[in-house]
Amino acid sequence: MSDPAGYRRFYPGTQPNHLHPPYRSSVKRAPEQPLIVLAHTLTEVTGPLFGPKDVDVKACDLTKEEHGDPIGERIVVSGRVLDENGRPVRNSLVEVWQANAAGRYRHRNDQHNAPLDPNFAGAGHTITDADGRYRFVTIRPGEYPWGNHYNAWRPAHIHFSVFGPAFATRLVTQMYFPGDPLLPFDPIFNCTADEKARNRLISAFDWEKTIPSEALAYRFDIVLCGRDATPMEV
Ligand SMILES: [Fe+2]
Repeated sequence: MSDPAGYRRFYPGTQPNHLHPPYRSSVKRAPEQPLIVLAHTLTEVTGPLFGPKDVDVKACDLTKEEHGDPIGERIVVSGRVLDENGRPVRNSLVEVWQANAAGRYRHRNDQHNAPLDPNFAGAGHTITDADGRYRFVTIRPGEYPWGNHYNAWRPAHIHFSVFGPAFATRLVTQMYFPGDPLLPFDPIFNCTADEKARNRLISAFDWEKTIPSEALAYRFDIVLCGRDATPMEV
């Protein structure tokens, strides 16, 4: 095992602020003391690792989780998981969870007055290939209201979790859709001050990956660290 590699720090404003008062929950959980930087050790690079044997190959198609077809627009979401130098991150476990087409999660805490879909659970996973690629087939999620402030609505989004080269390197983020009119009003999206960095959370329409007569496609690359890193939740 070689020594842990160093990495470039983020530019200020390119990751979500711990404290972003328009996002109410951040006020309660933001640290009040300065953060302590812990140096990387072998623990971070030698921890347990997920591999292909941990993955259900069918779990990348969220439209086939149940017995029937879910309601909504089928979409393909794919991309690459990359390190700070643009190199592929192989065998990275990628997990997603999302609301159904009506904007409701299948979770007891979600009491939004919108229908559940018996044919859509809204969770899937896969593992990246040798080029760092992943691919999901799913349903375009609906926007949903939330209690952050009066008439608050979340833009359509898909939650992502990715594991880097070791178990201790889990990162969580959200993918948005191009042209969503709710983005300028969303306190979570706007936690990241730097506009260019923030816009890395917006997927790109991907004509090449569309399936004729079946599904439109979106591309979402995830950069785990460095100056071009995807903003990650804190
Ligand atoms: Fe959500």
